[in-house]
Amino acid sequence: MAKICLCLTANTIERNLEILHKYRYYADLAELRVDCLDPNERLLIRRFPEQAALPVILTIRRDIDGGRFTGGEGMRVNLLARGLAYADADRRRNFAFVDIEEDLNVPSLEEAARTFGTRIIRSYHNIHGVQENLGAKIRDMARTGDELAKVAVMANSTSDVLRLLRAGRDYAQEKILIAMGHYGVYSRILAERFGSYLSYTSALSEPDAPSAAAGQLDVRELAEFYRFRKISRHTKVYGVVGHPLKASASPQFFNTVFALEDIDAVYVPFPADSIDGFMELARELEVSGISVTVPYKEAVLPFLSEQAAEVQSIGACNTLSRCPAGWFGSNTDTGGFSDSLLEFIGRKNLRRRKITIIGAGGVARATASEVHRLDGKALILNRTVHKARDLAAPYKFAWGGLDNRGIEMIHKYQDILIQTTSAGMEGSGEDDPLESYDFSGREAVMDLVYKPEVTPFLKRAAAAGCKYINGYDMLIRQARYQYTQFMGKEFPAQLLSRVQFDRSF
Ligand code: ATR
Repeated sequence: MAKICLCLTANTIERNLEILHKYRYYADLAELRVDCLDPNERLLIRRFPEQAALPVILTIRRDIDGGRFTGGEGMRVNLLARGLAYADADRRRNFAFVDIEEDLNVPSLEEAARTFGTRIIRSYHNIHGVQENLGAKIRDMARTGDELAKVAVMANSTSDVLRLLRAGRDYAQEKILIAMGHYGVYSRILAERFGSYLSYTSALSEPDAPSAAAGQLDVRELAEFYRFRKISRHTKVYGVVGHPLKASASPQFFNTVFALEDIDAVYVPFPADSIDGFMELARELEVSGISVTVPYKEAVLPFLSEQAAEVQSIGACNTLSRCPAGWFGSNTDTGGFSDSLLEFIGRKNLRRRKITIIGAGGVARATASEVHRLDGKALILNRTVHKARDLAAPYKFAWGGLDNRGIEMIHKYQDILIQTTSAGMEGSGEDDPLESYDFSGREAVMDLVYKPEVTPFLKRAAAAGCKYINGYDMLIRQARYQYTQFMGKEFPAQLLSRVQFDRSF
């Protein structure tokens, strides 16, 4: 099973020991980043393995490899040699590993490492990208059988991650593989699947111990939230794919449920710049289920071998689960939405209900389809009017813009107002998409935004005395349906009060 390494990047030995002490429980080994130490502290490293009392990697990373060491190579080699020698005869513990870059050729250093029982990590870094012939590079790197090859490359795309995964698969020996950066985040969580001996982490809640490399996860998050130590080759892998995948609450929902139910599964963020590349990667990583979010809900359709009826009717899919022929596509937004709405208004259908849907994007499509299925009559209003018209046409719904004429039409569709746009969402500038509409107080108002809990639109509805609900309930309900697709069983209702979506990747 892959190990967790805590990178120690504070500027004094004492502070690094303090941090190590605090997070020791989550780490299997530590990396002392000597390049992050104050110059006078660098002379005190020999005793560190003894003080740390767990296996330690000795590393002095150059600035060109993403580290902070700017001195000459002579000085760096001297420091490394100093770290390798025993402090005195009584001190039995030495560094367990020393990180020596593949282009550093100092036989005396390698000799010293062997003499003192320190294993060499032969490392290669590329903080800019991933070259074509990475596989050959890894094979050439390890010079003797007992060295551990390490490749840390910056993934600028999904195909970069795929290249690293394949290069690793071609090299059977023990190794360390890291796809750095945003696109590579899951290579750190799925180190086991990538065939990496360890995953590097930082103590990100310590302000004076900055992340040692782009994309590194917090040590505690990796150990507790992703249950890294339980991930084996049998662990089922699930995740959410999107671009840019800035905020997704699904990892919290699923990882919490998996932990509570003690299911051998993990749910990871899959930021991906290409759905084609990602689907290949998902096959090679043997991913068991995928939540699909913006902008891939339509682009994923060609990859489905089978699909649920609602996917066909709205032309969008947000859930992929395994079926014998490949992927089964379903859309849990539809069921999540209608369950939430019907419970909110206390009815079993929308017969004789006149409804205004604000927005004509992906979420509005699921909404309109469900309103139609449940026998409701609707008006669709959108900023870009032709999109409202296109969405309304198949259902024979009314349509208009978010202008005075459109707002005037609402008076005939006033029983329920459903806000599906991102206006009012945290970070979107707190917009109210229907600013000049005066609520009568009799409308039932649903805003599918859930962060903030009360949008400016809902705030006005509430002030006018309307009954209202935000999108949190729908979010939970669609996630429960997704759970059913993934696990092939109902979501255990008794867990509901224990799962929340209050943090996001
Ligand atoms: P989603 O899948 O979340 O629905 P989408 O398909 O990109 O995302 O659709 C976004 C919807 O929000 C659209 O209806 C968009 O209106 P346009 O079609 O005119 O772009 C709407 N939208 C986004 N920001 C908005 C704002 N500030 N005011 C009004 N409508 C907004």
